[in-house]
Amino acid sequence: MSHKLQKGRRGEGLEAMLAANRVLYPILGLASCVAFIYMSFGDLAWDLGVHVREPEMSFVGRNGTRFVVDGKAFYVNGWNSYWLMDQAVEENSRPRVRAMLQAGAKMGLTVCRTWAFNDGAYNALQVSPGHFDERVFKALDRVIVEARRHGIRLLLCLTNNLDAYGGKTQYVKWAWEEGIGLSSSNDSFFFDPSIRGYFKNYIKAILTRKNHLNDIQYKDDPTIFAWELMNEPRCMSDVSGNTLQEWIEEMAAYVKSIDKNHLLTIGLEGFYGPASSHKLSLNPGPWFSTLGSDFIRNSNVSNLDFASVHIYPDQWEVGVALDQKINYISKWLLSHIEDGDRELKKPVLFTEFGLSDQTKDFNHSHRDVLYKSIFDIVYRSVRKGRAGAGAFVWQFMVPGMQEYADDFGFVPEEKPSMYSLIKKQSCRLLKLGHGKDLLKRKFGKVCLE
Ligand SMILES: *[C@@H]1O[C@H](CO)[C@@H](O)[C@H](O)[C@H]1NC(C)=O
Ligand SMILES: *[C@@H]1O[C@H](CO)[C@@H](O)[C@H](O)[C@H]1NC(C)=O
Ligand SMILES: *[C@@H]1O[C@H](CO)[C@@H](O)[C@H](O)[C@H]1NC(C)=O
Ligand SMILES: *[C@@H]1O[C@H](CO)[C@@H](O)[C@H](O)[C@H]1NC(C)=O
Repeated sequence: MSHKLQKGRRGEGLEAMLAANRVLYPILGLASCVAFIYMSFGDLAWDLGVHVREPEMSFVGRNGTRFVVDGKAFYVNGWNSYWLMDQAVEENSRPRVRAMLQAGAKMGLTVCRTWAFNDGAYNALQVSPGHFDERVFKALDRVIVEARRHGIRLLLCLTNNLDAYGGKTQYVKWAWEEGIGLSSSNDSFFFDPSIRGYFKNYIKAILTRKNHLNDIQYKDDPTIFAWELMNEPRCMSDVSGNTLQEWIEEMAAYVKSIDKNHLLTIGLEGFYGPASSHKLSLNPGPWFSTLGSDFIRNSNVSNLDFASVHIYPDQWEVGVALDQKINYISKWLLSHIEDGDRELKKPVLFTEFGLSDQTKDFNHSHRDVLYKSIFDIVYRSVRKGRAGAGAFVWQFMVPGMQEYADDFGFVPEEKPSMYSLIKKQSCRLLKLGHGKDLLKRKFGKVCLE
């Protein structure tokens, strides 16, 4: 095993310590030795920029409707913290990244969904088409390394349909400013060949980025659970869905031409479109079939490995009373799990769900009840070997981040009933996948407490 230590003055002291450790290898065994080095020198190595070998991890793969790693079931219990890269740029906010990943690991969570983009906004990663801020790339490098240290994998999203952090509107603006845009409509992101070219360049830059902390290209890093093309794509200028479908097919093929290691998804909200006329009544309302997205047709593209669905009963106005909301979303979940089993033969992840704290009569116990109903459906699906494989809370923060809260964010440690609900979900999924022997290992300790 090589430790990829950087040569240089700062590295020498560490190298001597690592040499001493080498004597212990036969006694400790490979895995514990890696963990030992990591625990001893991880922080130091981070701060000094020294390269140290990281804990072993394999790529998550898929067998039919199940996620697998090392030939065994991989259970997904996840959360969203879109802000990790953003907060890792500047030193004063950087500790939040570690604190969040640590908190996630303590709840037995396995995947964090987060933004791997910032197009032209404050602390942009992509400053202009094809031009990157190395300082921000280093921040994303740190996020990935820190996740691995905590045994967390990342679902990395590549751009936004919404305006936050740039997204498709910024791409269209760039093309317009450079005088090559076909249209100022922000849906030209999907159909303008020059803008498709911009986005492909972006994909390539991210997938082939070499992490400055460990020299691993992102496309070769198993810490990354999967790529997501775009957060909540909609193309309302073409309700037939053909424009978005073509864009998805082209981008999915492009990602796979560079990276065959990682799973890939679109980032859809899950609305049914014209190709699934028999399912339109399951949408929150008639308007939702006119967004240019089409859950089954879009997700059926062969280069995609799993489907994603979001759940926002308040925004979708599917009822005022809590039991109305639960009734609706239960059907919504079950319908998409059925799609995964019958039509797609792929896993389905509920990659965002939330209950707004800004509605009249909001009550924190409502969140507990609604979230539990989602967790129960996912758990039953996994237990029966069906396609519904996991759910991701939108969204977690650490203390002191009120400005990131939106209507949905909270600090899990500050909501004890929610904290224990989430942890219970992790532990019962873990038991299904691995049986009791794994309970004694890393996440097992979480579950025995
Ligand atoms: C996929 O799962 C099936 C059924 O559980 C199993 O028989 C098969 O060996 C698995 N394939 C791989 C490649 O693991
Ligand atoms: C699209 O572009 C318009 C301006 O032309 C902007 O106001 C709007 O917020 C953009 N974003 C979306 C998601 O429609
Ligand atoms: C999904 O794609 C397969 C081919 O890959 C096709 O046979 C099937 O009809 C498609 N299903 C839907 C619902 O589009
Ligand atoms: C919140 O809702 C629960 C159950 O629906 C109820 O028992 C409790 O009294 C409510 N709390 C407040 C402050 O309204």
